[in-house]
Amino acid sequence: MKITSSKDFESRNEADFLILPFCEDKKAVALYKIAHLDPHIHEPIHFKDFGGKNKECSLIYIKKEKEPRILLLGLGKPDKITSESIRCAYSEAIKICKKKNGKKINIIFPHGCNVEEEELIRAISESLLLTNYSFDSLKHDSIKEDNVSVIESVDIIGLKPAKMDLVSKVKVICEGVNFARDLVNTNADEMTPHELSIAAKELSKVSQKIKVRVFDKKKIEEEKMGLLLAVNKGSHKEPAFILVNYQGNPGSKDHTVFIGKGITYDTGGRSLKPTTSMETMKSDMSGAALVLAAIYTAAKLELKVNLTSVVSATENAIGPNSYKPGDVYKSLAGKTVEVTNTDAEGRLILADALTYVVKNLKPSRMIDLATLTGGVVVALGEEISGLFCNNKELSDKLELSSKRTSELLWKMPLHQPYKKLMKSDIGDIKNSINSSKASSIMGALFLEEFISEDIPWAHIDIAGTSFTTKPQDYNPTNATGFGLRLLIDFLSHLS
Ligand code: BES
Ligand code: ZN
Ligand code: ZN
Repeated sequence: MKITSSKDFESRNEADFLILPFCEDKKAVALYKIAHLDPHIHEPIHFKDFGGKNKECSLIYIKKEKEPRILLLGLGKPDKITSESIRCAYSEAIKICKKKNGKKINIIFPHGCNVEEEELIRAISESLLLTNYSFDSLKHDSIKEDNVSVIESVDIIGLKPAKMDLVSKVKVICEGVNFARDLVNTNADEMTPHELSIAAKELSKVSQKIKVRVFDKKKIEEEKMGLLLAVNKGSHKEPAFILVNYQGNPGSKDHTVFIGKGITYDTGGRSLKPTTSMETMKSDMSGAALVLAAIYTAAKLELKVNLTSVVSATENAIGPNSYKPGDVYKSLAGKTVEVTNTDAEGRLILADALTYVVKNLKPSRMIDLATLTGGVVVALGEEISGLFCNNKELSDKLELSSKRTSELLWKMPLHQPYKKLMKSDIGDIKNSINSSKASSIMGALFLEEFISEDIPWAHIDIAGTSFTTKPQDYNPTNATGFGLRLLIDFLSHLS
């Protein structure tokens, strides 16, 4: 989608729609004088059927203007307008324009609403670019044609040309979100560990500052990543351990490491998932998709940070060779793990990844992103991710980024007394206590066994937020790319 700006109303181009913003109050105040458009247009207030409520939309058809259709868009009560409510309102308008086959849209910039100008520009551009995403490569051509169109260009009227730099930055960030969405939405049989490593290798084309290393099965065996290998046993596809480094600040030793769970499909293994829980499990590599997208975005934005993204990737398949509940496997750290549940596989592959990072990468801080537990969906739903952290400074920074991006995090406790529940009689620890009690906390506590206390570490459980089975505001159905905007904001505010 091309985004341009026109400095005033008269110089705008022709388009299919004009989006005209309103505030909700007793009069449904238009943020642009309707009379300037055409003296014959009524103020909607006279008909009391449009109140300017957030996401409220109404269409008028008009002959004389450069756009045949004007979409009245409610932004809500002036004191309740936030960047998130703006994102939601504009996504509603964009969805209507798309449904009605709009290709070119003019938007009147909502000067005069209570959000700071830069925030507004960010929110509107994000809303346009994230709502316009569609993943239709798996649809038949004839269905694609009947389907909703994609908006080709948007002209923002009343935006100074100098602000287009900011729009370009937002565009890169949304490309990052959509890159992550694409990786997740692709068929699991196509987005295998090997394909993920190809996607990672492709990243080196984005910038010379990106270097990629991929460990194949042989190297993973040599490294003794026993837990990643255990999970991989049932799959006829080889695992991959992927390291992508972006050196954006070579003079500095500061080094952030992101670690992504890359289960390319989670059947649950022998602790087989029921059909309805398995249906969405190609999304179990959302963490991997995010950390790769973070490299892409950080490099494109030329952020002055040193970042490594690590992906531990395998399918969790069921078959004659699948690992077995009750068996004990040795981790890279040396600790042995009694696998009481083969569906608690994410913590196993992440444990080896965390150990590798601690031993080899000298991280200043490390953050893992994982669709780890169904429990976090029960606790926080589909709009909030669980944050576990051993360091206040790090969690404060993540919470600030969460506020700024509206990608919501909620701090959860690493409640140490629960660790005793993980004790195993036959090995060192169990991977699951096979109870629904505090299951997200238990997952996080398991991971904590494999970090070093002196390295700030955060675990973000994105099981609820990474995928949606119905469209939600600016997130179309399926992968959301949740977390990418947050991670980039975090990196941008590191120093
Ligand atoms: N991939 C799942 C978690 C998940 C659930 C992600 C729902 C997205 C949506 C994970 O591997 C899993 O199965 N976790 C188990 C752990 C349990 C066996 C301790 C769970 O949460 O049920
Ligand atoms: Zn699982
Ligand atoms: Zn899983």
